[in-house]
Parts: sequence; structure tokens; C-alpha cells
Amino acid sequence: MNTFQEAPALQERPDTNQDIQLRSPTATDGAPVHNLIRKSAFLDDNSLYCYLAICTHFSKTSVVATMGDDLVGVVTAYIPPEQPDTLFVWQVAVDTVAQKRGLASKMLNYILEQNGCKSVQYVETTVTKDNDASRAMFASLARRRNCNIDESVMFDREEHFLNLHDTEYKLRIGPFAAAE
Ligand SMILES: CC(C)(COP(=O)(O)OP(=O)(O)OC[C@H]1O[C@@H](n2cnc3c(N)ncnc32)[C@H](O)[C@@H]1OP(=O)(O)O)[C@@H](O)C(=O)NCCC(=O)NCCS
Repeated sequence: MNTFQEAPALQERPDTNQDIQLRSPTATDGAPVHNLIRKSAFLDDNSLYCYLAICTHFSKTSVVATMGDDLVGVVTAYIPPEQPDTLFVWQVAVDTVAQKRGLASKMLNYILEQNGCKSVQYVETTVTKDNDASRAMFASLARRRNCNIDESVMFDREEHFLNLHDTEYKLRIGPFAAAE
């Protein structure tokens, strides 16, 4: 079960703009990423091995955010082999202490600016109907990039999840202008 708590009041939060560093993950980030995912609302908790593999094999298309010794944000993403123009964003999590200060948006930008994303013209992700924060975050990305969002069912509650999980809707955002 997730143990999500309300974000603290604004005045209690650190100045994340000054204190937060972004970088590509390494294998030693796997365990802290797993911990952050486990305490985030809405996100499926996968095995530690899964996050070790992501931090190792998809490091160039993922990002972690640290504040001192603490990992406070992560975006895991990859370029699907059959879609070299698309970044598929798998999970995004920001610790409650750093939410609503633009960190998720900065992390998405960080990945899109990496060399490995030069051919990326679309961002895809999946969201459930009720994840307002996630929908707002991707709507904001589309607005900033002046792009449309197409929405369709990707993994259906009955057909794919055997009624164990809500339907995941695919958001396809783009096309972006390709980097020079
Ligand atoms: C979704 C999440 C990653 C957003 O992180 P964040 O750093 O607070 O997001 P940002 O500050 O960059 O905000 C991005 C946009 O989303 C909006 N937003 C963020 N949280 C919101 C919320 N709870 N409700 C409505 N809008 C929200 C912001 O206003 C901003 O829009 P704007 O650019 O038009 O002002 C964070 O709330 C989280 O970790 N949630 C739990 C896990 C999750 O749902 N992950 C997404 C699915 S993979």
C-alpha cells in the first residue's frame, strides 16, 4: 500500500531551485529510486531489480534529482526500439518536500536535452483517469512545447490488467522540433 502524504505547506519547503542537482542515474541509485517510488501515490511498486536495471540500461534517458544526500526526484524513461522518435516516460516521482516547484518539469526537460534524445519528437506516457497531478504535468509539457496531446487506451482494465488495475491511457505529446 502507498503511504502518500500531503505536501507540506509552501513555507515549510526548502528552496529547491538552489539545493537540487539533476544527473543521470547509476546502479547505486536503484535502491533510493525504489524507496521514492514506494512512497509515491499512484505509482506501481516494482522490484528493486527492475530499478537497478533501469538505472543501468536506461540511464541516458532517465534522471534523478538529489538534495544533499537525499534523492528527491526521478524520471524513468526509454526510447522504444520500434519508435526511435519517441521518449516513453515510464514513472515520474517527486518527494512531497519538493513538489509543485517545477522539479518534474525540469527533469523532463533535462532528459529531452540529452544527446540520446536528439531524434525525439514525441513524448509518450500512460496515466490513469484520476491522476490529476500527472495529467497536469504532461499538459504543461505540451503547452511549453506548443504541442497537441493525443489520448487513447494503451492498457485496458479488463483486457490487459485482468481487472487488477485501472485502465492506463496513453498520452502522445508532439511533434517537437527536432534538436539541431
Ligand atoms: C506528478 C508529480 C511528479 C509532479 O511533480 P512536481 O515537481 O510537483 O510537478 P511540477 O511542479 O513540475 O508541476 C508541473 C505542472 O503540473 C502541475 N501540478 C503539479 N502537481 C499538481 C497537482 N497535485 N494538481 C494539479 N496540478 C499539479 C503544476 O501546476 C505544473 O503546471 P504548470 O506548469 O502549468 O504550472 C508529483 O506530484 C508526484 O510525484 N506525484 C506522485 C507520483 C505520480 O503521480 N507520478 C506521475 C505518474 S508516472
